[in-house]
Amino acid sequence: MNDKINLDKAREEFKRFVSGYNMEENMISLKYSHSLRVAEIAKELGIYVRDNVDSSVNVELAELIGLLHDIGRFEQFKRYGVCSDRDTLDHALLGVQILKENDYIYKFCPIEHLQDTMLIAIYYHNKFQLPDGYEGPNIVQSRIIRDSDKLDILQLMRERDFNTLYGKDEIRDQYISDVVFNQIMRGSQIMTADLTNDMDSWIEMISFVYDLYYPKSFQILKDEGYIDTLLDRVNSAHNHVKIEEIRKSVNEYIDFKVKGIQE
Ligand SMILES: [Fe+2]
Repeated sequence: MNDKINLDKAREEFKRFVSGYNMEENMISLKYSHSLRVAEIAKELGIYVRDNVDSSVNVELAELIGLLHDIGRFEQFKRYGVCSDRDTLDHALLGVQILKENDYIYKFCPIEHLQDTMLIAIYYHNKFQLPDGYEGPNIVQSRIIRDSDKLDILQLMRERDFNTLYGKDEIRDQYISDVVFNQIMRGSQIMTADLTNDMDSWIEMISFVYDLYYPKSFQILKDEGYIDTLLDRVNSAHNHVKIEEIRKSVNEYIDFKVKGIQE
């Protein structure tokens, strides 16, 4: 049996799937282009992992998972008009259900022994953390998609306008709460439940750094200068001291992680 994934076919099917939704809608086209970019990043990380960490990793599978990880977003947006899991449902679980329904997953990946890995990686792509004791062959694909997704979100947020995100032109007049500041300074990812305003949620996004896994992901962050750009966008007299402290500690952490790639 041919056990290669046909990515051209998968991309075509995914495009057909998305065209069933309103592509004129900003959010739908945004999620579609996000999916295509995440697939590219997942391929890049997959190649890195294959060549440096685990030669058995299936790079085509990583790319396919990247393409499909947000397949639940389109239906979520159609039903609720928003992409907030907190206010609606878990879009990753919805994605798994869509792929399982009538064996739709076979259109993307007819190779049965890879399907579980796909579904598990999609299911866990948006969870706060991977569960304790979560190991085995699936974990590599989960790590790749989680890193790729976060990298594209950080990339995207450099240019997203605050109005679309928060309904206002600026958020730099808001204060970073102490709870959020202390969490990021401790080097942990911020819990959504702790956010008090839009500035906090901006900082939450920066804290994605503390959930990245591969040194290559840190290298991409550093090369592209994502963190500095994101912090510069919200820097003002209101929060300047905190912003600079965050900048220093996050960049030190990134530098430390990048070393993993050079040694
Ligand atoms: Fe997602």
